[in-house]
Amino acid sequence: MLHFQEAGQGTPLILLHAFPLSSDLWRPQIETLSSNFRVIAPDLPGFGASPDFDGDPSVDHIANAVMALIEHLGIKEPVILGGLSMGGYTALAFARLFPESLRALILCDTRAEADTPEGKANRDKLIALVGNEGGGAVIEQMAPKLLGETSKNSRPEVVETAAQLGKAQTDLAIANALRALRDRPASLDLLPQIQVPTLVIVGDEDGITPLDAAQTLANNIPNAKLEVIPQAGHLSNIEQPENFNRIVREFGQSLK
Ligand code: MLT
Repeated sequence: MLHFQEAGQGTPLILLHAFPLSSDLWRPQIETLSSNFRVIAPDLPGFGASPDFDGDPSVDHIANAVMALIEHLGIKEPVILGGLSMGGYTALAFARLFPESLRALILCDTRAEADTPEGKANRDKLIALVGNEGGGAVIEQMAPKLLGETSKNSRPEVVETAAQLGKAQTDLAIANALRALRDRPASLDLLPQIQVPTLVIVGDEDGITPLDAAQTLANNIPNAKLEVIPQAGHLSNIEQPENFNRIVREFGQSLK
């Protein structure tokens, strides 16, 4: 079973973290949004305190593990499912596998497209790098891209948080997740079939999953709303937590 953090009561709000981090990515949301929701933040397979994948790593496998956690917690009502980047790829896989379990979707700094051939080749290089030099070398390559220029220039505490979260992860978790990311299918065909209200969030300085990827999501999901967060990069939830939390709270309250 996935390890998870939980706080608050009410409608379940399940938050899926980015690569190569853990549920601690969601600390500002667990602390604040728990006044309005039952916030549940799992560590995805191999990250944080969760067990590694048993079987081939894939986003479907992660989505199934999230469903198993929902069942384990005895949650019968449809959930609000939010995911950032890798968490968003997983949320889309969940929407395809378990549409009846969703009340709403929140897709943050993520995309519906699969990796390009160059992207897949780069995942292979990073997997080899984990084998040769360890996961720390992957974190070093990724770290500068995870945050926006504003955070890098003026928010040292955010830079430190992102670095610490990455450093805490194992080589196996990083290599397995890279395989799952490389092999994930495109979700473009799924988007018009998503029936639930969907909030798409993107930081305006996100260089990994930029505005056009968010626009593709919002333009193709029938009941979607796009929110662009100024002065935030890929990890918009820790770069501009007040703005991020306000947007999510208002969206959640609009569902009632
Ligand atoms: C993430 O933040 O989860 C990753 O950067 C996603 C990716 O590399 O595609």
